[in-house]
Amino acid sequence: MPDVVAIGSANVDVIFRVARLVAPGETISAREVSQAPGGKSANQAVAAARMGAPTRFVGCLGDDGHGGLLRDALRDAGVDTSAVRISGAAPTGSAFICVDDDSENTIVLATGTNALLDVRDLDGVCFGRGDVVTLCGETPPAVVAEAARRGSDGGAIVILNGSPVEGFDAAVLPWVDVLVVNTGELRALANADASDGSIHDARERLGVDALIVTLGAAGVVCDAGTVVRLPGHAVDAVDTTGCGDAFLGALAAGLATGHDLRDAVGRANAAAALAATALGAQPSYPTASSVDELLA
Ligand code: RIB
Repeated sequence: MPDVVAIGSANVDVIFRVARLVAPGETISAREVSQAPGGKSANQAVAAARMGAPTRFVGCLGDDGHGGLLRDALRDAGVDTSAVRISGAAPTGSAFICVDDDSENTIVLATGTNALLDVRDLDGVCFGRGDVVTLCGETPPAVVAEAARRGSDGGAIVILNGSPVEGFDAAVLPWVDVLVVNTGELRALANADASDGSIHDARERLGVDALIVTLGAAGVVCDAGTVVRLPGHAVDAVDTTGCGDAFLGALAAGLATGHDLRDAVGRANAAAALAATALGAQPSYPTASSVDELLA
């Protein structure tokens, strides 16, 4: 079976539960503080592994307790971590996350060792036909571009998450098969809205085979020549942190395990909804059987 290869960031998430998000100049108290493994690429790896795909993670962790916590979380989920580099030159990446009573969040990143990931870290990585490579904007742009090029040359399907927008470099697009964005990213990257025509035009301009726009609780739109809309699943949302990464990982797992794009998007839509039902990113990710149950 082809592998999912998630390349890029891993962070320890420090999560503050607050009644509402803090305003500029204001001090408020959190009800609860907790810590969980996160980081967009590591989240995608864990989500893909939970969905049953053989998964490898390529990243750089610090030689510290947080690095150990993240490696253990990846391994516990069944992710191959043999291409993870440990560096003493910076602390492991971290994210400070506030989650309010409406399950909205704000995230501030401290990139740490994620910024040390280098194109040389790709040298031992094998990209085979049918593998699915996932990439995101938390990873140095040179690594994203080189991983996309090597993945594409090896016959892999390359999926790019346009989040965060500040890390996006359009130069990578010729090697990208599937671009996944939310509506804010769609506006920022392609000056488009979520109407069928606008998404279709944006895909043609960006030159990718498929453009997928996640709509939060409202579901997802996918254009791969024709526009398909899938509604969201009604769930009791607790925390939407990492739902986009659950979508990416489940989409990659679906494609790696032989589903066509339409089915893989449907499974990813269900996985993202289930990921909203518990606090934190990785701890909330569903297994393939929970997704099957929701879709039954
Ligand atoms: O997408 C959610 C993730 O963004 C969090 O886990 C945090 O680490 C940041 O990378």
